[in-house]
Amino acid sequence: KKGGFDHFMLKEIFEQPQVLSDTIHPRIIDGFPSFTQDGINDNFWLHFNRISIVACGTALHAGMVGKAIIEKLSHIPVECDIASEFRYRNPIMTKNTLVIVISQSGETLDTLAAVRLAKLRGLPTLAIVNVPGSSISREADYTIYTYAGPEISVASTKAYSVQLSIMYLVAMKLAMTTGTRSFEEIRTLSKGLLEAAEASQQVLKLKEEAKFCAQQFAKIKDLFFFGRGLDYSLSLEGSLKMKEISYIHCEAYAAGEMKHGTIALIAPDVPVVAVCTQEFLLSKMIGNIKEVQSRGANVLLITKEGMEIDPELYNHRIDLPALDDIFMPLVGVIVLQLLAYYSAVIRDLDVDKPRNLAKSVTVE
Ligand code: F6R
Repeated sequence: KKGGFDHFMLKEIFEQPQVLSDTIHPRIIDGFPSFTQDGINDNFWLHFNRISIVACGTALHAGMVGKAIIEKLSHIPVECDIASEFRYRNPIMTKNTLVIVISQSGETLDTLAAVRLAKLRGLPTLAIVNVPGSSISREADYTIYTYAGPEISVASTKAYSVQLSIMYLVAMKLAMTTGTRSFEEIRTLSKGLLEAAEASQQVLKLKEEAKFCAQQFAKIKDLFFFGRGLDYSLSLEGSLKMKEISYIHCEAYAAGEMKHGTIALIAPDVPVVAVCTQEFLLSKMIGNIKEVQSRGANVLLITKEGMEIDPELYNHRIDLPALDDIFMPLVGVIVLQLLAYYSAVIRDLDVDKPRNLAKSVTVE
């Protein structure tokens, strides 16, 4: 059942290149993003001057990457909300707002309630869902299915990656429809997305390196992840994965925010995973790494090939394939998933069924 893997989580991590390809390929037609197979025609994307993304947990982290990419490519303002907060904060929803919800199971109660609230306010709802026929897909006006296949491990891995891939396609589609990017740029981006999906295969080869780093973390009780921009969203996901299966206490921080208080927690037995894949933020990240290193932190640097960083600044460096900055989360997350996985295995924990957690959260 586990296809030769020790756990479903590892099997699902290794399925990522395939499910990314399955999810992306049918939606790139003649080099351009298209959702006609999902029953969404090109005119649909013309009507929105605001987007609200709502989700929980890992799906929320995919939404945060989505916010950054949609804003960057299409210049449409995007809000990204925790579903259980969105419901009760009386959100301002103006007429031309598209509400996008993201959910692997399609059954998360707070996310479903967000769909109902948006519909009550007369707004169009678009669900990005993995489980066919689930409640959220039935109630939303439109559904784009991710093709991750069944995800058995409680910790979500492949579902996150395919959610990201849909976020990229939606951002490109909006940019193309609203004309903020030229057709040529969109064609290049579509190619970039396909290349990123292929590059995920290479990242799986970093398995032993991730295992080695997890061994270095065998005795720790606390851990920080930090990054800037897309790397901050990625840090949140890396930290959540680590917490839920290894039970190490982790926090993810926007790297520039650490010095406003939290740096007080840094000590020699509190390592920092520095996620540093964004070229334009490199010099700022180097400054932040120096800040934690000078307080005694061991630094695990996750970066990409070709980034020039003084070896004195880290204890170990993992190099991801060098893609365009915007696609780095697709490859970066895999290393973070592997790091969490091996941290749990080393602690002899029940990787696929962590304590206190259920696969879908159908209670408030
Ligand atoms: C973390 C995890 C959870 C889910 C969250 C939302 O690994 O699996 O954080 O992402 O409960 O679930 P869905 O996507 O089913 O709405």
